[in-house]
Amino acid sequence: MFSWSWKDDYSIGIKTIDEQHKKLIEIAGKLEDMLHTGESLDYYDYIIEAINELKEYTEYHFRYEEEKLKEFNYPELEEHRIQHLYFVNRIGKLAMKDIDNDQLEVISETLDFLARWFFSHILKIDTKYVDYIDKNVD
Ligand SMILES: [Fe+2]
Ligand SMILES: [Fe+2]
Repeated sequence: MFSWSWKDDYSIGIKTIDEQHKKLIEIAGKLEDMLHTGESLDYYDYIIEAINELKEYTEYHFRYEEEKLKEFNYPELEEHRIQHLYFVNRIGKLAMKDIDNDQLEVISETLDFLARWFFSHILKIDTKYVDYIDKNVD
């Protein structure tokens, strides 16, 4: 299973954005802790809190990223924005699930989605704009 702690390999090389990605990992780490503590506790309030925090923080992060990319005239901004939109919708759906019925299931579904997102978006699509900025912005 993917470990929710920051590694230097995850750095895309832009300090403010790395800090924001770190914060996302930190929120996912809270969910992972709940998964490890297991079945016997009622996490309802914590899950809602963590999913809302995730939703709010990603919205903030995406806005920040999109504004930067606009500033730099990034040619693939639209595609990037669509991926962000997909993420926000998916998290929105998770937030609306019947959390009370299957708390651990919702947590592991959320973490699976986040891990996939981490590899397919942050480590691939986000690093693409870093290449562009390196080549085109002084
Ligand atoms: Fe990002
Ligand atoms: Fe992004």
